[in-house]
Formats: sequence, C-alpha cells, structure tokens
Amino acid sequence: MRKIEVVPSILSADVARLGDQVREAVASGADRIQIDVMDGHFVPNLTFGPLVVEAVRKVTDLPIEAHLMVERPELFIEAFAKAGASLIEVQVEATASLYRTVETIKELGAAAGVAINPATSIETLREILPYISLVNVMTVEPGFGGQKFIVHSPDKIRRLRAMAPDVEIEVDGGIDAQSAPLVVKAGATVLVAGSSVFGHKNGIKAGISALRTAVG
Ligand code: DX5
Repeated sequence: MRKIEVVPSILSADVARLGDQVREAVASGADRIQIDVMDGHFVPNLTFGPLVVEAVRKVTDLPIEAHLMVERPELFIEAFAKAGASLIEVQVEATASLYRTVETIKELGAAAGVAINPATSIETLREILPYISLVNVMTVEPGFGGQKFIVHSPDKIRRLRAMAPDVEIEVDGGIDAQSAPLVVKAGATVLVAGSSVFGHKNGIKAGISALRTAVG
C-alpha cells in the first residue's frame, strides 16, 4: 500500500506571506509543495513563474512540484528545472511533443509527470505511461482554486489505476476531507489541496490534519 502524500498548492496561499505560509505547511506535515503555474492561455488565469520556485526552494527541502498549466510547456521546462523543481508536470493537451518533453524533463534532473483535464480520456496517456512517474487527474477544470470537485472523478481514477498499477496517481482540485476518501479509495495516492489547506478556518495545520484523518 502506497503512503498517501499531501501536497499543498500555493494558489490559495496568502502570497503576501508566501515564505511563512510554506514554512507553516512544511511544519504541519506536508509531503511536497505544488506551484500552480498558469500562462493565461492554456487556462484563463496568470500566476507564478520560475522565480517563485526559486523562492520556495530556499524555504524548504521538500520536493517541489511545478504544475505547468501552460501552452507549449517545452519552452519553460529548463527554467523550472534550474529553479529547483523536483517534479515537472505538463498537460497532455498542451504539447505536440509529449515524449520529447517528458524525456527532456528527466534529462534536466527532474521527475516527469503528466496532467489530464476532466474531459480528457485516460487513453491519451497509454503510450506515455512507461516514461513518467506521476499522472495528475484534474478533478476540476484547471485555472482557479476553490472550485467544486467533479463527482465523476473517482470512476476515472479507478480506470486509470487499472491501466497503470505502478504510477503515482495525483488528484488536484476540490480535494478536501469529503472528497479525499473517495479518490483514495479509487486509487489516488497524491492529494493536491489548495483552499482546504491554506483556506481552512482553523489554519493550515488543521487543514492538513483533516485530510490525513479523512483518508485514515
Ligand atoms: C487548478 C489549480 C487548483 C489548485 C487546487 O485550478 O491547480 O486545482 O491546485 O485548488 P483547490 O484545492 O482550492 O481546489
């Protein structure tokens, strides 16, 4: 049985105090930190660049995931790898050269992951699975924090787990104490959580603890 990893994503953090927020998430038992990178083209929002990965890298030794919700991610992977990203995940919908992009990520010394949007079939992953260590099954349409969990996601996760018994299955979007047990039961092992951690009414530690308690 794989350990369930809790990965706070900084989109919902108080960016004016990002260093403190990351330190608090680390002290509260986060396993990794995720940087939600958005370019205003692949998604209708604009967020963080390699500079923010560099800044977070100075604050923690935990693995940092750079989730590139950007068109043509191949243009940016070197900058994120050099900034200190431990894992770089690209959207399957965003590049015409997914194999070359994944291989380049690994040549740069980072682990390679692929993210798929809610309407994208897991069949699009079949040929790339042997080359990646993580699949991020988006459980919201990417672009914003605080969105509602898509209730059909567990079925998709179950089908992916059947296709890929050994890959890390990450979920991202609307993950909280209610949805977390559903996705873990379906086979997810990595929980990305923004608003349920950084927006928890009792603080970050309570948010992370609620997720861990919910999945047992
Ligand atoms: C894509 C973003 C969000 C974020 C998680 O929209 O990448 O999924 O990480 O946001 P919450 O946990 O607030 O849904």
